[in-house]
Amino acid sequence: MKKDLLTLRDITRDELEQIFELAAKLKRERNTSDFKPLAGKSIGLIFAKSSTRTRVSFEVGVSELGGNPLYLDQSKMQVGRGETVADTANVLSRYLHGIVIRTFSHAGVEELARVATIPVINALTDDFHPCQLLADMLTIKEYSGKVDGSIGIAFYGDGRSNMANSLILAAKLTGMQLAIASPERPNLELAGGASNVRWEKDPEAAAKDVDYFYTDVWVSMGCEEDRERRMQIFRPYQINQKIFSLGKSNAKFLHCLPAHRGEEVSADVMDSKASIVFDEAENRLHVQKAVMALLMGK
Ligand code: CP
Repeated sequence: MKKDLLTLRDITRDELEQIFELAAKLKRERNTSDFKPLAGKSIGLIFAKSSTRTRVSFEVGVSELGGNPLYLDQSKMQVGRGETVADTANVLSRYLHGIVIRTFSHAGVEELARVATIPVINALTDDFHPCQLLADMLTIKEYSGKVDGSIGIAFYGDGRSNMANSLILAAKLTGMQLAIASPERPNLELAGGASNVRWEKDPEAAAKDVDYFYTDVWVSMGCEEDRERRMQIFRPYQINQKIFSLGKSNAKFLHCLPAHRGEEVSADVMDSKASIVFDEAENRLHVQKAVMALLMGK
């Protein structure tokens, strides 16, 4: 039976370890590997939103696994002119061996996956960004040697964003101690009652025992019209040296990128030795190759 990755709810703890193991191997052997599980396969990459990391890492990843990446601008597809998601899913299933999609509506991606007979990977919706979290967790595993309840992580900013939602699911999956520093209550129901996820209105309180500080832009794609209000309400939640110094002495800084220095993060934190954002970005490639090999390489 085909398997999709729409959120981290689609992955068990054992499968997460399997992804980490394969991603680490693919990373080590990137220049020597003859592992080509996508040989003879075409993977559609549908994008309705801008992207640098996701588009490039998926295109390169499909190629490195021996497959044919097919970039599809959603605004140029018939689905943008009224063709139904279901008809699109049926048609693409006749041509392709897998779909990677970045779009607005998470419900739309769920419908696509429900009808498609080929695996679907969510490359970001308004509600979830699972591939980013897989890369983040691989990075944490590289630096800390584990991803479990001994890890303290704090997210600063929009507690109801796709990144905050995804972090909650990651904490539920792994047991990481997650604090969300945000003016508005996050969607804590996603944690299913797990006691390792908490909301802190006070940004200083959220920094206690933190190994990894995490943030994202305050004005995400689709929120531009609300820019001024968002800049104002999230300003106290900037990750800067003052906040950073309240975490553990060897704390690291994560950001899914792109970053806006002077907004969600100060330049001195973003560009400090504690910042591991480019390792994190690189891991998008390795972890997504592992996911595609496991879901689409059969
Ligand atoms: N983090 C992330 O998804 O980056 P892009 O928007 O550049 O793909």
